Amino acid sequence: MLDVVTTGPEPITDQGVADALEVAVAQVRRNLPAFTYRAQNHSSVDNVYPSVANDQWTAGFWPGQIWLAYEHSADKTFRYAAQIQVQSFLHRIENRIETDHHDMGFLYSPSCIAAWKLVGDEDGRKAALLAADQLMERYQPVGQFIQAWGRKGNANEYRYIIDCLLNLPLLYWASEETGREDYREVALAHARTTLAHSVRSDDSTYHTFYMDPETGAPVRGVTKQGYSDESFWARGQAWGIAGMAFSYRYERLAAYRDTFERLLKFYLDRLPTDLVPYWDLVFSEKDREPRDSSAAAIVACGLLEMADLETPEKAEEYRQLARRIVKSLVDVYSVKDPDISNGQLLHGTYSKKTPHNTCRGEGVDECVAWGDYYYMEALIRLSRRWSSYW
Ligand code: GLY
Repeated sequence: MLDVVTTGPEPITDQGVADALEVAVAQVRRNLPAFTYRAQNHSSVDNVYPSVANDQWTAGFWPGQIWLAYEHSADKTFRYAAQIQVQSFLHRIENRIETDHHDMGFLYSPSCIAAWKLVGDEDGRKAALLAADQLMERYQPVGQFIQAWGRKGNANEYRYIIDCLLNLPLLYWASEETGREDYREVALAHARTTLAHSVRSDDSTYHTFYMDPETGAPVRGVTKQGYSDESFWARGQAWGIAGMAFSYRYERLAAYRDTFERLLKFYLDRLPTDLVPYWDLVFSEKDREPRDSSAAAIVACGLLEMADLETPEKAEEYRQLARRIVKSLVDVYSVKDPDISNGQLLHGTYSKKTPHNTCRGEGVDECVAWGDYYYMEALIRLSRRWSSYW
């Protein structure tokens, strides 16, 4: 049995899920006029997303929400809006607009793979395959990892990050779609490297990990967005948990299942009673630090993904836990009044600057694009047998 906080939220009911989905889909509909031809910023400003060009790593999450709204409502307005977004994503990858990084899965799975899977959009398929090819170009055989950021091969940027586990499903999809084994082999190699170096002996995780460009040997783990190098960035742990679930779906390796359980236990042991973490798991109530609701939404999706692959007993345990997390998100964190926010989930944290990290410091205690998306994905997963975009 999972050793999780036993007080706190009850599991959300089916009716609770249905009601929350209605609210979320209405918010997507309200946002269409502002964001059919534009992207949402990575995070809100005073709880309101500005519209921006499609040039950030987070742009895929808004079309992902539109596709989820389409699946829930079958309203063709959503389909048309999401397909307009697909054209923007095709243009972006064909012209390589701000694509010099590893976040091709975050960009192209919820926007373009969704379009291909749901309505057979050929441009969605084409764009996603081009994105997979771009991701392959970032693979570094010396060290066997996908380089996250910066100029490829540059010694100062020779590192990968735990978040990249969520970019790997794009490669598995491309492999299945084309019959080419190399996409799959790169995904497997990157996951193997992540397991070897990013998981600490106490089952917490490093955010980023440097490798030696000459020998491929592991050098050191460092944070960019966590509190400090040796702390436990909540979303990094969440990406690790969800990443292991998706990896296990594509390759039933015992190491993925085992690591999922270990990372999950570390995470659960550090949650406050409402099951939504502080932005770094090193904090507790006395520190008065902001939460990261997006990490909770990601973990809920990871639990529901793993539940589909597990024994009936474990599946039930994971689903009940996901229902408790989602209940907390719906009751306390979700946007119910569109006058206060055009997002879905309040109290996310993108990157909080500390003396010990290297991030810019933005989107603190705000809605964040992926928090909104995974919140809706969790609701959809609880409402039906859902065929994943990932
Ligand atoms: N993948 C970047 C982040 O989670 O902020």
